[in-house]
Amino acid sequence: MSNPLSRRAVLGTAAAISALGSAHAANTIRVYESGDSGGGTVTLRMVKRPAPVAGPGQVVMKVHATGLNARDRSLLRGVRIYGGAGKDLARIPFDDNAGVVLSVGAGVTRVKPGDHVICTHFPLWTDGAWDDATMSKIDFGVNVDGFCAEQAVVPADGLVKIPDSLSFEQASTLPNAGLTAWNAVVVEAQPRPGETVLTLGTGGVSVFCMQWAKMLGARVGITSSSDNKLARMKQLGADFTINYRTTPNWNEAALAQTGGKGLDVVFNTVGIGEMERAIKASASNGRIMLIGANSVTLSGDNAQPVGLKDFPRNMIMRRLRVQGVLVGSRKMLEDAVAAIAEKNIKPIIDKTYSFDQVIDALNYMEIGGKVGKIVIKVA
Ligand SMILES: NC(=O)c1ccc[n+]([C@@H]2O[C@H](COP(=O)([O-])OP(=O)(O)OC[C@H]3O[C@@H](n4cnc5c(N)ncnc54)[C@H](OP(=O)(O)O)[C@@H]3O)[C@@H](O)[C@H]2O)c1
Repeated sequence: MSNPLSRRAVLGTAAAISALGSAHAANTIRVYESGDSGGGTVTLRMVKRPAPVAGPGQVVMKVHATGLNARDRSLLRGVRIYGGAGKDLARIPFDDNAGVVLSVGAGVTRVKPGDHVICTHFPLWTDGAWDDATMSKIDFGVNVDGFCAEQAVVPADGLVKIPDSLSFEQASTLPNAGLTAWNAVVVEAQPRPGETVLTLGTGGVSVFCMQWAKMLGARVGITSSSDNKLARMKQLGADFTINYRTTPNWNEAALAQTGGKGLDVVFNTVGIGEMERAIKASASNGRIMLIGANSVTLSGDNAQPVGLKDFPRNMIMRRLRVQGVLVGSRKMLEDAVAAIAEKNIKPIIDKTYSFDQVIDALNYMEIGGKVGKIVIKVA
């Protein structure tokens, strides 16, 4: 825990939240919003807001489930992604979501009231190539309100219908972790049967990487700081496991697992701090998927000293490819949802909290005990 002050500040809002209770007028909704994110403190408070109204091209979603991702730890650490650059912008956090269409605005024909849907992380990226300048204008929880709310207003273009086989809680894990892993595994790395891949840690993205890579028939390894979590991963289908705490040079263990040949794919969900080991662990023609961005360590640090002194030689002589991975498009999310239904793949949920327990959920994330996803059941 890097910033105990922030944690106390967040915990301090619990009383206010319980005082608000669950009773609210029909035309208002309960939401959590981030408060003052300057000066080393950050707050998350439950307030009432007017129920949203769908404008042209928009939909009001009754949110049934939301959940936590690595970036949401920022709420406890006072890192200013919620509310952007300004102070006290009262942003509703979280991008995980699943719910029911309540109403549609003018011109919306893709969905109708009653449809069960999820909304993709970047709803302006429907298909084709990513364009940062135009498509990052809606980033839920960061530059527009997210889904830690009883209702949310979203662009209809970002919505994907979900099958009956998925609960709202399961479906809510797909717009961020599930989609990012789909993009990394199925769209970019494309491991083939017989290839060996390794995914780092047992967080939301990494566990999905394991599931999608197994779906494609690869031999899949996974790392963790915990032998108990690794035992669980074996039960869920991992072919081999490495404890990165007891084996910090996990790249050597990975080479041993491949008879010295190296890994065909590394899913680097940690970030730059693991890049050198990922390169050392790779086989000729290996692909390294660079996914990790926000800190995933309990200390709050991400970057260990990065040597990379043999970077050009390693990259060129082994003909490696490093691919930055950014969540994914709506088309990719549609494909992931179809695959989930067809292959009966179940997202791995560690724990589900109620809407009144959002702060407990954040604190549970902070102690690092989870495997896969933490979900908030909103309705
Ligand atoms: N590029 C994108 O579009 C995109 C999208 C989503 C997420 N991300 C990024 O992907 C990363 C993971 O996100 P998440 O939501 O899946 O995180 P998460 O659910 O919070 O999981 C984090 C996990 O990281 C593992 N970890 C921590 N330090 C590690 C290390 N040194 N080596 C290996 N594993 C380590 C831990 O696994 P154990 O508990 O098993 O030790 C922990 O459970 C974050 O940096 C996030 O910002 C990027």
